[in-house]
Amino acid sequence: MADRRPIVGGNWKMNTDLASAVELADDVAAGAESLAGRCDVVVFPPFPYLQAVGHTLGHRGVHLGAQDVWHAPSGAYTGEVSCEMLLDLNVHTVLAGHSERRHVIGEDDDLVNAKARAALAAGLRVILCVGETLEQRQAGRTSHVNVGQVMAGLRDVPGEHLPRLVIAYEPVWAIGTGNTATPEDASAAHRVIRRAVADLYGRDATRALRIQYGGSVKASNARDLFVQDEIDGALVGGASLDPGQFVAIVRAAVEAQAVRRGSS
Ligand code: PGA
Repeated sequence: MADRRPIVGGNWKMNTDLASAVELADDVAAGAESLAGRCDVVVFPPFPYLQAVGHTLGHRGVHLGAQDVWHAPSGAYTGEVSCEMLLDLNVHTVLAGHSERRHVIGEDDDLVNAKARAALAAGLRVILCVGETLEQRQAGRTSHVNVGQVMAGLRDVPGEHLPRLVIAYEPVWAIGTGNTATPEDASAAHRVIRRAVADLYGRDATRALRIQYGGSVKASNARDLFVQDEIDGALVGGASLDPGQFVAIVRAAVEAQAVRRGSS
């Protein structure tokens, strides 16, 4: 059964300037408008450009996302941005626990969990990112690491928030490297992750959970990933900066969904 609507996110990371962010948003919105009814599409610009990008996206079906969030509602947290501030700008989705935040900035599971809980409680949709490093994969710890990050990330998240949760499986060794996990490897990891969430919330509640793959997804490899029953879209970094590539990835998700439906 693969009747989950795909979700494709474009994580722009610390790229673009104001003018190019607006232009990229406009191109994505124009290209994805006719597809957005069949695939959730969300872009994650840098914080300073959220408002301008939000205006540009308008009501063309592409959602506005934020790359990070802080868990407290307000106060002495220099440099941080709250859920309420993001909601003010019509942000719809936030990332929690992206591998660059975990491994470059040094966020631990407790902080990722606090952010995910706060954002879900505020009514935002959350993409919880998990994934093993190359070292962990080579040591045979892939499942252990992913299950650990899922369990820790979802600690004390009430089941009623599950419909607004998406998990992104992003093996660290595949991000920005050009090395994509094989569709089979990604599927296997997604199955393990779904089982871990089912252990927390029950199988019925977990059936609708969408699990995206992330890590060097491009127009050329998207379809092979998306036809897999377990792969409900992608979180895209580098290729999301090219509107032609990004829209082609969204189209691949829509087309693959028809294949998945046909074979289920
Ligand atoms: P990439 O990044 O597509 O450039 O590998 C993916 C991500 O970091 O979400």
